Amino acid sequence: MKSIIVAIDGYSSCGKSTVAKALAKYAGYTYVDTGAMYRATALYAFRRLGDEALNREAVLTLLPDIHIDFVQTSEGQHVTLNGEDVESLIRTLEVGNMASQISTIKEVRAFLVAQQQAMGDKKGIVMDGRDIGTVVFPNAELKLFLTASPEVRAERRYLELKAKGESPILEEVLADVNDRDYRDTHRAESPLRQADDAVVVDNSHMTREEQMDYIIGVFRERCATV
Ligand code: DC
Repeated sequence: MKSIIVAIDGYSSCGKSTVAKALAKYAGYTYVDTGAMYRATALYAFRRLGDEALNREAVLTLLPDIHIDFVQTSEGQHVTLNGEDVESLIRTLEVGNMASQISTIKEVRAFLVAQQQAMGDKKGIVMDGRDIGTVVFPNAELKLFLTASPEVRAERRYLELKAKGESPILEEVLADVNDRDYRDTHRAESPLRQADDAVVVDNSHMTREEQMDYIIGVFRERCATV
């Protein structure tokens, strides 16, 4: 079967990374979590700049010092920041919020998008994020746009945080989901939007299995026709 690029976009907490990882495993493709790249960038800025972490000029001076990579560990793929495994540090609500804000800076996006495009050189890649089908790979052979209601997504995020030992409050998580949706869809630079040729998957009322069966079907069909 021909190797293709699969671009997966969608709102926060709608299961993009679960789908992307499962599809990459099924296809034997490389998985790239671009949200982790924005999160690692935000973590670096916060460590170096503290309260100034969202100051555009200050952030721009740091970009040349940021080296992000992915490594395989016994627990799956982890993101590294200048060689340090920061996987668990970047998965908090705070870093997620900082990432959402830092991702509005044009130069930060250009810096990360160039690296993402280079990763797709050889195809055989599943990449998830907010602008993959619209900006990073506008010619991707398969574009998926995942969505679910804010309430369903807040509940999923709430359960995930609880499972990690945090003490989230459901109303706060829902407010955070809504804030992040607003920022992700209204920013000037590469706002989240559905590509015209994307296959839309609303998984509010689908089980993981139903969703994967459907997506694998679409993927196989696409590989057979490109
Ligand atoms: O998918 P995530 O929650 O890990 O992403 C964290 C933030 O990074 C998200 O609020 C928006 C931003 N992001 C982005 O702007 N573009 C991407 N391709 C991926 C993430």
